[in-house]
Amino acid sequence: MSRTIFEKGIGGKSGDYLPTGDFSLDTIEGIRTRKGPVGLPEIGEQDIIRHYVELASKNYHIDKGMYPLGSCTMKYNPVVNEEIAGLGGFAGLHPEQDDDDVQGALELMYSLESALCEICGMSAFSLQPVAGAHGEMTGMMVAKDYFRSRGEERKTVIVPDSAHGTNPASVVICGFEPKTMASDEHGLIDPEVLAAQIGDDTAVLMLTLPNTLGLFEKEIARIAEIVHEAGALIYMDGANMNALLGIVRPGAIGIDIMHLNLHKTFGTPHGGGGPGSGPVGVREHLADFLPVPRVVVEDGKYSRVYESKNSLGRVHPWHGNFNVCVKAYAYICACGSEGLRAVSENAIVNANYLMKKVGQWYDIKYPGPCMHEFVASGRNLKQYDVRTTDIAKRLLDYGLHAPTVYFPLIVEEALMIEPVETEKKETLDNFANVMEKIAIEAKEDPELLHEAPLTTPVRRLDEASAARSPELCWPGLDGSDGEGD
Ligand SMILES: Cc1ncc(COP(=O)(O)O)c(C=O)c1O
Repeated sequence: MSRTIFEKGIGGKSGDYLPTGDFSLDTIEGIRTRKGPVGLPEIGEQDIIRHYVELASKNYHIDKGMYPLGSCTMKYNPVVNEEIAGLGGFAGLHPEQDDDDVQGALELMYSLESALCEICGMSAFSLQPVAGAHGEMTGMMVAKDYFRSRGEERKTVIVPDSAHGTNPASVVICGFEPKTMASDEHGLIDPEVLAAQIGDDTAVLMLTLPNTLGLFEKEIARIAEIVHEAGALIYMDGANMNALLGIVRPGAIGIDIMHLNLHKTFGTPHGGGGPGSGPVGVREHLADFLPVPRVVVEDGKYSRVYESKNSLGRVHPWHGNFNVCVKAYAYICACGSEGLRAVSENAIVNANYLMKKVGQWYDIKYPGPCMHEFVASGRNLKQYDVRTTDIAKRLLDYGLHAPTVYFPLIVEEALMIEPVETEKKETLDNFANVMEKIAIEAKEDPELLHEAPLTTPVRRLDEASAARSPELCWPGLDGSDGEGD
């Protein structure tokens, strides 16, 4: 293990060249000044650079190799978008600047909203939510306000068991009651089962499309009919829109509310804790309920509207993560409509190619053509006492990131694999070959897999303790708690 930067820090070293100012804190009455050392490491510039380069070289990241993490995937995102988002005219703005001073930024937000409406067949989008799950929560709030405005008390939300895990959580946070609906033997919603389950009390059917098995709901038109006949709404978790760009417009197939993950589909890496953006789109009859402020245009002049009679208010300060919106807009403009369709087509081709290869060695419970991802299973290796965790850990020894494991819950020993559109055939072949080698190792030398990973800086971690009792704060070297007084 590397020493932490706190352990490397030696008192008296410094990496900053800030001039000593002539400003005295005494001149400010009542100022709260620190009483003791802040407890930060003291380290020279060269050492600090070496420290972080060493850490980066140990870390696995998209610039190092493929990231086949189903659902929460990472694809290559053009670096030029980062440059654009970093331009002073965007990065140096303050949200409280007058509309007159920020016409370009407002135009970008307005244009991005319009582009998302066109891509998704929606009437309006709000860019305010800053994550996929945040978008889900906002969408559920829209649904709640909509029914309230109609004087209807609908309490339940039907969530298929193939939905993303954040869906039922968002339902609960908004005070609805989730009702799980079982998928049929093909991993899809059976309209008859839906018809039997839906009722006067149902507010929303919340589905992930394509679902977490990587499958598109073939009966979506009938499903929409059933939901609307019952007076309910359909929410689409559109985080998987990277499978549908230019192919399906959710508004055209009856979706009432949806969110997107800009930090997955449109030019910002997923993962790493943000920043993200989960815009929410709605059809005409729900547009009034979206969060404020909204950007409008009149006679070529853009302005922000802070009040709207039915708006649910704010779900985040100001306009969400503006820099992610800049990257998304740059990405959409660069791809154009043809390019966006090619993104999804390539994602689908890659996933189906890999599914066929991996399927030679692993069970595929739902073998039909998939969309952007598929779910394999390590169930067939249980006979050698090898589990999906062992497969995931062994992949690390081969220099690959593991897929999402044990999700979705409806597939035993699940390995959820999303190769994404940016990976080339050789990379997919390499992944498939490694999966084959691991399947052979499971049979011939299962102990090797139980021991894996053997080559990483740290071996198997106690993941439960790491999640349940994380130590996030370094106890200061000087005996303080590291936070100063
Ligand atoms: C289908 C789906 N829904 C929701 C989410 C949640 O998004 P976030 O992690 O931004 O909250 C994800 C994550 O990628 C997802 O894949």
